[in-house]
Amino acid sequence: MHIDLTGRVAVVTGGANGIGRATARRLAHSGARVAIWDRVAAAGEAAAAALAEEQLDVHFIETDVTQRLSVEAAVLATVARFGGIDVLINNAGITRDAQLVKITDGTVTGGMTDDAFDEVVAVNLKGVYTCTQAVVPELLKRGGGRIVNASSVVALNGNFGQTNYVATKAGVIGMTQVWARELGKRGITVNAIAPGFIATDMTAQMPASALDAMLSHTPAGRLGTPDDVANAYCFLASDLAAFINGAVLTVDGGLVIGT
Ligand SMILES: NC(=O)c1ccc[n+]([C@@H]2O[C@H](COP(=O)([O-])OP(=O)(O)OC[C@H]3O[C@@H](n4cnc5c(N)ncnc54)[C@H](O)[C@@H]3O)[C@@H](O)[C@H]2O)c1
Repeated sequence: MHIDLTGRVAVVTGGANGIGRATARRLAHSGARVAIWDRVAAAGEAAAAALAEEQLDVHFIETDVTQRLSVEAAVLATVARFGGIDVLINNAGITRDAQLVKITDGTVTGGMTDDAFDEVVAVNLKGVYTCTQAVVPELLKRGGGRIVNASSVVALNGNFGQTNYVATKAGVIGMTQVWARELGKRGITVNAIAPGFIATDMTAQMPASALDAMLSHTPAGRLGTPDDVANAYCFLASDLAAFINGAVLTVDGGLVIGT
């Protein structure tokens, strides 16, 4: 499918690695100028430099989505560089997995810490809220735009050991639906993607047994690639998706329907 984003400016949070990096590349190959917002400067600079070698107009801005001042500075830097913003891909996300309570021989021996809960909420949920609130005024100046948020299939069915992560990804779906209602009449669509298990640094941290179990329930018979998800982000960021608003698009090889 040919997607033309010529003249558009896209922000990809968490664009230094994994799905975000593939998305920055996909958007830029479709003609967009892209700002990568990520808190890891070395990886962000490397990603932008690699994409520049492909003659793509990609610029890295060191940004921590948990810090409002950092996000506001990133908006200013993006507008200074590219003149405005048309697309926001809220992709940055982290995991800090642990069972709610860890039980050994019938006794509670540990469990999720408050820090682990709060850190994941700060990036995956409040970061999406902060970036969206900061970028919407720029979308309005352009007469509309596209927002695509990273949820996950685990938001739909839960997942062992991911109380914090699942709470944030379910919350992202809720915020997506609220903003689709609030911003739709302003020419802004807001959608979410719900990837299954994608081969990135994030899933590399998972136990092999857990990944094998997911694979056995995936009709496509493989993990997803970052490009699989980047294609979905890019479609939802394009004119082809003009009438899609408030949707959650699963990109999971059929995992949620199981085998
Ligand atoms: N990999 C999967 O299987 C999978 C499945 C479902 C959903 N997702 C979601 O897709 C998104 C991307 O996942 P990924 O696998 O590419 O992860 P990744 O760990 O490979 O990359 C995440 C990026 O986010 C950045 N980041 C983290 N905290 C940040 C912050 N405070 N400010 C700015 N940037 C920050 C990291 O530096 C990194 O570059 C995440 O939201 C994740 O929850 C991933």
